[in-house]
Amino acid sequence: MDYQSLLSNCVKRIPPSGIRKYFDLLDDSHISLGVGEPDFPTPDRIRKYVAERLKTERVPYSSNSGDPHLRELILRYLDEKYDINGYESIENVLITVGASQAIDLAMRAILNPGDEVIYHEPCYVSYTPSIELAGGKAVKVLTKHEDRFKLNAEAVKAAITPKTKAILIAFPTNPTGAIMGKSDMEAIADLVRGTDILIITDEIYAELTFNGKEHFSIASLPGMRERTIVLNGFSKAFSMTGWRLGYAAGPQELIAAMRKVHQLTMLCAPTPAQWAGIAALEQGFADNFADTRYMIDQYESRRRYIIDAFNSFGLECNEPEGAFYVFPSIKSTGLTSEQFCDQLLASKKVVTVPGSAFGEAGEGHIRCCYATSKEHIEEAMRRVGEFVKELR
Ligand SMILES: Cc1ncc(COP(=O)(O)O)c(C=O)c1O
Repeated sequence: MDYQSLLSNCVKRIPPSGIRKYFDLLDDSHISLGVGEPDFPTPDRIRKYVAERLKTERVPYSSNSGDPHLRELILRYLDEKYDINGYESIENVLITVGASQAIDLAMRAILNPGDEVIYHEPCYVSYTPSIELAGGKAVKVLTKHEDRFKLNAEAVKAAITPKTKAILIAFPTNPTGAIMGKSDMEAIADLVRGTDILIITDEIYAELTFNGKEHFSIASLPGMRERTIVLNGFSKAFSMTGWRLGYAAGPQELIAAMRKVHQLTMLCAPTPAQWAGIAALEQGFADNFADTRYMIDQYESRRRYIIDAFNSFGLECNEPEGAFYVFPSIKSTGLTSEQFCDQLLASKKVVTVPGSAFGEAGEGHIRCCYATSKEHIEEAMRRVGEFVKELR
């Protein structure tokens, strides 16, 4: 059978992930700064809460929109944490299988063939495929090292056409760690107020900001909640990647359209994961999110160490103020980012990810995730230091 001829052209066009090959080769002698996932266990009390409920309760489907109590807690969380408020009811919230599914649902709910979605690169690997699988056209705007990888409103303006349906933004950004403050977001908001262009904002790293900076959501600006779909989830803030729990908040008509796709393709997010989300938020409100703050403190000290190490090797490293990645420039070595990562892996057994895996604007950089133990990071940096010395 000619299996290739059976495949959808769109799926065939999507290149294989530039990240996977670096993870498929690992054994215990390797140190990975590759995977973007917290190294902490899911906080004990979240696991205990779910374990208790599992002892006595059935595990049924939840409502398609998700557990009503969880949706109430999410509305409170968005309001108290990020000043995103004014939603009419829990019908403004849809519980999803990670932020990943929320991205996919948002695209499938709004796009007709040929509709354009502007997004910024370097970026998370799923954006372009999600837009294209939904029949849309992904229009990239490049962000630059010299701008600290912030999104320039003028560049976005230049990319807007009559076919622009949405602008997808993601701050703090994977892979650069860039964040955007209020005035940066104002400039983007000014482009869309009074138009029918939607903002889709992936805020999965909202909890992870450093240097005393706080996350600022574009949805909190006047006139923006009604033209924004906020995507978020529990993976990064609560170390819950494998639970697969995320959500979307936005105007009810848009959330209802996303729910239609969700109920026909997924039914609902896993019920035990939704219980875990309830525990994470209820307990978080009770003690000001102590578990998350503990993790952030750990990341902060690792972040400082890794930035200083790269700079001391002569690999210029911006100070990223969000997420848990550094994105140093490796241009001074004369290698491409893929060559650098391949050679570092082969000779020193340290896994990093080439910036080019996140789009052309990432070339000349590598992504290192510091969500791993300090000992691992110290050893990895010792090996990277040796590697760079041997190159020169
Ligand atoms: C920017 C960004 N958005 C979304 C996701 C996926 O999140 P989730 O685990 O909630 O599906 C990731 C995962 O790394 C990410 O980096």
